[in-house]
Amino acid sequence: MATFEKSGKANPAAAVRHAHVIGWGMAVPETVMTNDDLSSFVDTSDDWIFARTGIRQRFIANEGESTATLAYRAAQHALEVADILPTDLDLIVVATATPENIFPSTASLVQDWLNAHEAGAFDLSAACSGFVYALNMASDSIRAGSINAALVIGAETMSRILDWQDRSTCILFGDGAGAVILRASETPGGVLSSVLRSDGSGGDLLAIPSVGSIDANESRAGANGSKLYKMSMAGSEVFKFATRVVSESVEQACQIAGVNVSDVNLVIPHQANLRILQAAARKLGIDIEKFMSNVERYGNTSAASIPIALCEAIEQRRIQDQDHIALVGFGGGLTWASMIIRWGISKPSEQHGSLLNRQRRHVQYRIAKWRSRSRRWRRRVNSKVRDLKA
Ligand code: UT7
Repeated sequence: MATFEKSGKANPAAAVRHAHVIGWGMAVPETVMTNDDLSSFVDTSDDWIFARTGIRQRFIANEGESTATLAYRAAQHALEVADILPTDLDLIVVATATPENIFPSTASLVQDWLNAHEAGAFDLSAACSGFVYALNMASDSIRAGSINAALVIGAETMSRILDWQDRSTCILFGDGAGAVILRASETPGGVLSSVLRSDGSGGDLLAIPSVGSIDANESRAGANGSKLYKMSMAGSEVFKFATRVVSESVEQACQIAGVNVSDVNLVIPHQANLRILQAAARKLGIDIEKFMSNVERYGNTSAASIPIALCEAIEQRRIQDQDHIALVGFGGGLTWASMIIRWGISKPSEQHGSLLNRQRRHVQYRIAKWRSRSRRWRRRVNSKVRDLKA
């Protein structure tokens, strides 16, 4: 596949540019929480959860894990598969509803830890649709010629914003991260089309109030404090919305890409509920076998669910060269987003990565720690010197 040089050296006008997925990776916490574990502290059962959602278990971050550490691990795997260096990246976007901080962004932390010092970095907030939104932003930037390589991550620690007494929500979610690397290429294919949509009138159906909200004012006044940073959801309303938009937006994305729905080889949807996927498959007239689902083992990992499912689909050899893949996300906002990708990279078995590059990446990760520490130290010394001079 013909690729472009790192930004700055490229001539965007020279050729039509396409954005291809060249790397992928995922990370989940070690701790597994089963439905039976849940039923020991909330009034529910494995039977109810599995029958209504398809979920059997989820991964829950421990004290030492966070949205950024999961994102960092997923990013490292993606760089291995892509066999590029962190310094080759021009942009890092982390789609998340559970960012490490309001700021600095989770993306900036990952940028620092990777030593990706040539990259811009920001977080993107579009709830469970966030990963597809972020992929769209990055692929459009690649196609426009402003960047050549982007790391796009969906990462969440949903366990930190759940009300563990609320059985209607706490049984659904899990923690994890997935990442892909997009790179510019002259080879036709890659991201073919995207559809991004929002209906803010449904914002109250799925929400996590934060510092800037009316609820924060009320909490300062001593009322309603418990609402802050806690998720609320009108499950059945969201369910109806989801089954409608999955089929509609996949059809729209197919139309823009010039691909028949029947030519889609695999749909990789947001993993919220198996029944939503079954209903959407029926509406689209697609065999449910063509819908990737791993909700059984991970639960709903919000913005991380699509890249995690993508990684597993690749691992299970469910994606072949030139296949048409549909990604579709839906969730808080309300937001929804679909994308058609024509897979056009060498097969995973050929993606070993050169030993030299692997070593160079590990050197960069080690340098990242020292670079970051020395920069902080220099800032402190400089400010002390300024204080002394003043
Ligand atoms: O990622 C963002 C997008 N989110 C989604 O897509 C989630 C969409 N919604 C859903 O997946 C489903 O609405 C849920 C799984 C959340 C709920 O399933 P449902 O079939 O819509 O159940 P329901 O809320 O209508 O509740 C049915 C019954 C109620 O009891 P009554 O009133 O009929 O006696 C609930 O109190 O089930 C009860 N219930 C439970 N029972 C045992 C609700 N949660 C539980 C539970 N265990 N965990």
